[in-house]
Amino acid sequence: MNSFLTESQQKELSEIANKLTKVGRGILAADESTGTIGKRFSAINCTNNEQNRRLYRQMLFSSGKVLSNYISGVIMYDETFWQKSDEGVSFPEVLRGNGILTGIKVDLGVVSINELETTTQGFDNLDKRCAEYKKAGADFAKWRCVLTITDQTPSELAIVTNSNVLAWYAKICQRNGIVPIVEPEVLCDGTHSLERCEYVTTKVLAAVYKALNDQDVFLEGTLLKPNMVTSGMQANPQSSFSDNATATLRTLRRTVPSAVPGIVFLSGGFSESDSTNILNEINKQANTDRRMYPWSLSFSYGRALQHSVIRTWNGDCANNNLAVAQLIKRANACSDAAQGVHSGTDDASANESLFVAKHVY
Ligand code: 13P
Repeated sequence: MNSFLTESQQKELSEIANKLTKVGRGILAADESTGTIGKRFSAINCTNNEQNRRLYRQMLFSSGKVLSNYISGVIMYDETFWQKSDEGVSFPEVLRGNGILTGIKVDLGVVSINELETTTQGFDNLDKRCAEYKKAGADFAKWRCVLTITDQTPSELAIVTNSNVLAWYAKICQRNGIVPIVEPEVLCDGTHSLERCEYVTTKVLAAVYKALNDQDVFLEGTLLKPNMVTSGMQANPQSSFSDNATATLRTLRRTVPSAVPGIVFLSGGFSESDSTNILNEINKQANTDRRMYPWSLSFSYGRALQHSVIRTWNGDCANNNLAVAQLIKRANACSDAAQGVHSGTDDASANESLFVAKHVY
């Protein structure tokens, strides 16, 4: 028996998780920290100040109800969460009006635990912050832990530490009526093989679910945000979409309980086009026997939903309509891929690599 949540708290969490995992819907990760959005802005020569950050996010959230055909939730950074549209409406309220749930990044970034590895900080006031976010319209949260593949890593220390950190965060969120997205990202940096990524991701996810169960986290009120299982970004040759999908599904089958309602992959530096195609292949293969894959298999993409959008916007609100059209196009493609029915060919910018070494969020 789960001891720390009442039945009505569990019901609320399940309902949020079910809304987030509606068929053909995924999540837009627009929660870049001030430093990270600054890197995106510098590529389009846009000054990284609060007003420009607000104008960019306002554009992302301005597409009306049409986006809710493909996107069930948007993750925001703290600053964005408290910002308002030109009409004075808070961004969570704007999204709610369009049938989209608001998520909030609650971690405060990574810190070293040894020379090669990190864990993630942000427990100070987490309980209080979650209560405030819930009151102001957040229904789900994200916390990202990072594991790296080298000959020596991930260490047992990193796997256990990060799993316990994710479980503790998840529990605090649930106490406050917030569905935690549990994100143990195994970075794609490196020359490693697909098999090594599968082995490491399996160990990491097994440890994460051990820790979540140790801490009585209510799995029906969580989502998992993992990496797709692939060869390293610098491996030569690269593993195929089809082999990536097979390895990803085998890994999930072996580690993720069927009580978990949804798995929303991160894009991790893969291009818009590759991220869409791998997700599509995962769902095509899963559709051959859904009894083995009880969870929704969808997306929570940051770079792979925004790259061509931010290029189109180009720091100029005169381009808002074009940029919104591009966002809807990308979200539609990802939504199709989340059902295994994506068939489109992509434009050139969708093929640009979005890889950033040792990516921080
Ligand atoms: P990417 O899709 O750009 O990897 O980002 C997703 C995310 O939210 C990482 O925490």
